[in-house]
Amino acid sequence: MAEFRLPKNSAIGEGKSWPKPKSVTLREFRIYRWNPDQGGNPRLDSYHVDTSDCGPMVLDGLIWIKNNIDPTLTFRRSCREGICGSCSMNINGQNTLACTKSMSDQEGAVQLLPLPHQPVVKDLVPDLTNFYAQLTVIEPWLQTKSPTPQKEWRQSEEDRDKLNGLYECILCACCSTSCPSYWWNSERFLGPAALIQAARWINDSRDEATGERLDILEDPFRLYRCHTILNCAKACPKGLNPGEAISELRMKLVARKM
Ligand code: SF4
Ligand code: SF4
Ligand code: FES
Repeated sequence: MAEFRLPKNSAIGEGKSWPKPKSVTLREFRIYRWNPDQGGNPRLDSYHVDTSDCGPMVLDGLIWIKNNIDPTLTFRRSCREGICGSCSMNINGQNTLACTKSMSDQEGAVQLLPLPHQPVVKDLVPDLTNFYAQLTVIEPWLQTKSPTPQKEWRQSEEDRDKLNGLYECILCACCSTSCPSYWWNSERFLGPAALIQAARWINDSRDEATGERLDILEDPFRLYRCHTILNCAKACPKGLNPGEAISELRMKLVARKM
């Protein structure tokens, strides 16, 4: 059920201004802080990063703050090169990856919030339990009925090309958490990330469960809550277009009825 009013304890207040390091190359970071053990409302703390002492990306700044100013600051990261999808957050109003977003692309202070419309575990870490549960619905693995070949499952170059624009998805959740339909119907609409993954398996010439996969999507909410607003394509840090993949899934559902 969609909630139109945010809980009172979600309003973000002014936070602490941490002491500035001694340097002439400082960049302000304003960062969402919330600790479930302390309760209360979230706040925006202000930190200053010495950019002459750290790498150029927003994630480098966060790591610098954690190492030099505030070890309690909490965020996810792993690969530091746009592959794992774990450092996704809202940077100056845009959902994106902190490890591939340059500090120099941002004007003024760098403001960091967790991905929107998700419960918060702590600071910049969203609770993606529902997001991953939805991914399991589309069964994101190769399903076959033919006897397993002695070597690999073969695929022509032409068929392999049909996965381009889909297989690159790193499940960062930037798209789903920027989708208004997902905000209001996240219990039932699968959202652009799970749906681009569904398209990836439906388009795979080696997969033999296409009919069952389309059956899973034949539902008034799971697929059809997409209204082609295309916020998802704007948000995707890998340059993918989940909205277009969703439109193609719809066409496949229509085509099989004809
Ligand atoms: S195109 Fe569909 S999935 Fe993408 S943001 Fe719009 S409603 Fe959401
Ligand atoms: S489609 Fe793009 S934004 Fe969405 S989960 Fe995949 S990589 Fe992230
Ligand atoms: S740390 Fe892996 S995508 Fe950013």
